[in-house]
Amino acid sequence: MAASGFLAVCVLCAATLRTGFGLHTVSAIYGETISIPCGQEIKDGLLFGKWKYEKPDGTAVFVAARSAVKKSFSFDNVPEYNNRLTLSENYTLSISDARITDEKRFVCMLITPDNVFEEPTLVKVFKPPTKPEILNGPTFLETGKLSMVGDCVSKDSYPDGNITWYRNGQVLLPVDGVVSIEWWKEKNSTSGLHYMRSTLQYVPTKEDIGAQFSCAVAYYVPDGLTTMESESAVFDIYYPTEKVTILVQSPKKTIKEGDNITLRCIGNGNPPPEEFLFYLPGQEDGIRSSSAYSITDIKRNATGDYKCSLLNKIMIASTMVTVHYLDLTLTPTGDVTKQVGDSLSVSCIPSASKNVSVTWMKNQKILTHPSFTNLQYRDSGVYECETSLMEVDGLRRKKTLRLTVEGKPRIKLSKKTNADGKSKTVLYEVDGFPKPEVQCISLGNGLYLNKTEETMLSNGKYSAKIIISPEENVTIICSAENKLGRESHSLNVSAISIPEPDEPKDRDGDQNDNAKLIVGIVVGLLLAALVAGLAYWIYIKRSSSTSKHVGKELGNTEENKKLEENNHKAEA
Ligand SMILES: *[C@@H]1O[C@H](CO)[C@@H](O)[C@H](O)[C@H]1NC(C)=O
Ligand SMILES: *[C@@H]1O[C@H](CO)[C@@H](O)[C@H](O)[C@H]1NC(C)=O
Ligand SMILES: *[C@@H]1O[C@H](CO)[C@@H](O)[C@H](O)[C@H]1NC(C)=O
Ligand SMILES: *[C@@H]1O[C@H](CO)[C@@H](O)[C@H](O)[C@H]1NC(C)=O
Ligand SMILES: *[C@@H]1O[C@H](CO)[C@@H](O)[C@H](O)[C@H]1NC(C)=O
Ligand SMILES: *[C@@H]1O[C@H](CO)[C@@H](O)[C@H](O)[C@H]1NC(C)=O
Ligand SMILES: *[C@@H]1O[C@H](CO)[C@@H](O)[C@H](O)[C@H]1NC(C)=O
Ligand SMILES: *[C@@H]1O[C@H](CO)[C@@H](O)[C@H](O)[C@H]1NC(C)=O
Repeated sequence: MAASGFLAVCVLCAATLRTGFGLHTVSAIYGETISIPCGQEIKDGLLFGKWKYEKPDGTAVFVAARSAVKKSFSFDNVPEYNNRLTLSENYTLSISDARITDEKRFVCMLITPDNVFEEPTLVKVFKPPTKPEILNGPTFLETGKLSMVGDCVSKDSYPDGNITWYRNGQVLLPVDGVVSIEWWKEKNSTSGLHYMRSTLQYVPTKEDIGAQFSCAVAYYVPDGLTTMESESAVFDIYYPTEKVTILVQSPKKTIKEGDNITLRCIGNGNPPPEEFLFYLPGQEDGIRSSSAYSITDIKRNATGDYKCSLLNKIMIASTMVTVHYLDLTLTPTGDVTKQVGDSLSVSCIPSASKNVSVTWMKNQKILTHPSFTNLQYRDSGVYECETSLMEVDGLRRKKTLRLTVEGKPRIKLSKKTNADGKSKTVLYEVDGFPKPEVQCISLGNGLYLNKTEETMLSNGKYSAKIIISPEENVTIICSAENKLGRESHSLNVSAISIPEPDEPKDRDGDQNDNAKLIVGIVVGLLLAALVAGLAYWIYIKRSSSTSKHVGKELGNTEENKKLEENNHKAEA
């Protein structure tokens, strides 16, 4: 500061001298040629012209002379100016390769026979400095700390200049504790050129992110002041974290059981913090980790608040994680076999992270909740209970119940006379599961009867027909059998000549089960045996004694014989 103040005074001094004494001044650029006009009219009767300069102590040194008469010129042996001078006919002195040491008072002397005219000229030399450079800059600046920004260096200036620092084009002025600028100038004693350096120390803030720091040198040229700017420098600004943020990274928007998730903690400082403490739901102690904390195969009980903080436990961020899940319980499930007429209660209960409803399907068709108080064959099938969490991609569950309703065979027989009058049709209807095998035989001859292809009726019933043309009354027995049992019914079909009554009421009357029939046969046989015994006893009695009641007794015997025959037929 003091030095630049002094410089200002000096410049002011020079300016005053120049105006006050009316001195001619010649300005030249360092290294170029200095042309110093004589500065006075050529006098009549001029003998010769001469150039000298004045040393600081006032002594004069002659450098060149030119004869006006002989038109010749000569140079004095001044080593500094050897081979650098020319003196033109109008007495302009030219000095090539201008140096700082050429800054002198040169005097042009015109000599006439009776006088010597002198005219001094001040020579000024200017040397622009090198482009300023910012050196020793750090790799980063830390906010809140007085940090070295760099040295701005500009060399080889004459006269010396001033270095100014800029931030985003604005001049940086010293501010106590915030901006500190120290400068240093040095003059090379040989060349006379100045070396300038200015050191900037600065307390950066986050505002300085991306700020451009530069310096400029202001220096004199013959026309006045000019400036030259350095390249600008941008620094990485380090600042502490002021806020932490926690993020959940999951494969899908919603998290479901079994997913792998990553919690990411981010601090907004620069450079970003690399380590954090992660707090799991309900846990006081943090887990030290890098910025990513992974949880694999997450469970429903992992739902909760997750937090993270810096290692110093300040600045806590928190986020809610909901782990969706979906369970489905179907009772009963899998393969279930029930008897026809049984009751079965079925339940399908979802358990999920949200309210869900279930859909029932049977054989790919939607149905309402099935409930069975009296199972029928038609209730057999594949039941599916399905549910899904709409919000969670791919979270759906399905349970299957394969219900089989089993039952013993039940068979019904009916008959009719066909329109042609030459045949009769016996029709059977059978149900039961597994599907019963049906066989019909004619009791009279014990032959299996041919039946038509079975056709399926509704409700798991089948029917088939048997066409017969009986010569005489026959009894037909049809039996249906599956692994669960067997049912037989007989039907009396009268000879073809006798039409069957059309009433369908005989269905029930015609149907007896096999056991009854057998009981009937056995009872018939016993009866027959009894009658035969009785007849024999009467015969014995009658052969020993004559009776008055023969006809009645005979008639009885004939009746019994007939009954016996019929019973034998039934047995066959
Ligand atoms: C003197 O002569 C030089 C060339 O010889 C010329 O450039 C210059 O302008 C002249 N100066 C004056 C003051 O006539
Ligand atoms: C240097 O700064 C001083 C004041 O601080 C000023 O007077 C002087 O002209 C400046 N020099 C240049 C070359 O800018
Ligand atoms: C979760 O990560 C484990 C390994 O870390 C991998 O075996 C598993 O397949 C991943 N699960 C999912 C759903 O991506
Ligand atoms: C969560 O449940 C799993 C079993 O599904 C168990 O191993 C784990 O300890 C439970 N975690 C908590 C925090 O209860
Ligand atoms: C879920 O169902 C329960 C009762 O079944 C009810 O109290 C609750 O409000 C429901 N929640 C939603 C989100 O519908
Ligand atoms: C049943 O049909 C077969 C031929 O399909 C025949 O040979 C057989 O005699 C028939 N039985 C009766 C009792 O009509
Ligand atoms: C055949 O049955 C009919 C009744 O269906 C009966 O009237 C008739 O007497 C019976 N014939 C013989 C020979 O039994
Ligand atoms: C069928 O005929 C027999 C005699 O041939 C008789 O005993 C039986 O009761 C008859 N059954 C029905 C149901 O009419």
